[in-house]
Amino acid sequence: MAIDQSALIAAAREASTRAYAPYSGFHVGAALAFADGSVTTGANVENASYGLALCAETSAVAQVMNAGVRGGLVAVAVIGGAPDEHGAASPGAAPVTPCGRCRQVLNELAQLGGTDPVIWCVGAGNVLELRLSELLPHAFGPANLG
Ligand code: THU
Repeated sequence: MAIDQSALIAAAREASTRAYAPYSGFHVGAALAFADGSVTTGANVENASYGLALCAETSAVAQVMNAGVRGGLVAVAVIGGAPDEHGAASPGAAPVTPCGRCRQVLNELAQLGGTDPVIWCVGAGNVLELRLSELLPHAFGPANLG
């Protein structure tokens, strides 16, 4: 089933309006698309103890896994930037790619379902398209534990 790239990016942008990012001022939204057509979003959640920030992608994965989802991840859109007047991330020229921890967190869900999701990283006027396996080659995952 083909995933609508602009709809998924719009969902990520909408999620970024709910970012709690008073410390960095950097809003991030992520949208996860599944083989059954469902979409789940997340935004970054920061903390007064700065290092404890939860990224948008990790928040989204935690949400679906708490709902019992264990696979079927086919596409991810990520958008980040300073908030516009509606709180939505306005991306800069360089697309935001998932941080290292988020790559590993996404990999867990992807590997459980045997998929290699496409990751759409949104910049101003451009979308960088990569597979998760390109962002995290030779990933360590559940398969390694037997
Ligand atoms: N952030 C994300 O939400 N996802 C990423 O992949 C990169 C970074 C958040 C964490 C922090 O709240 C803010 O962006 C600035 O680093």
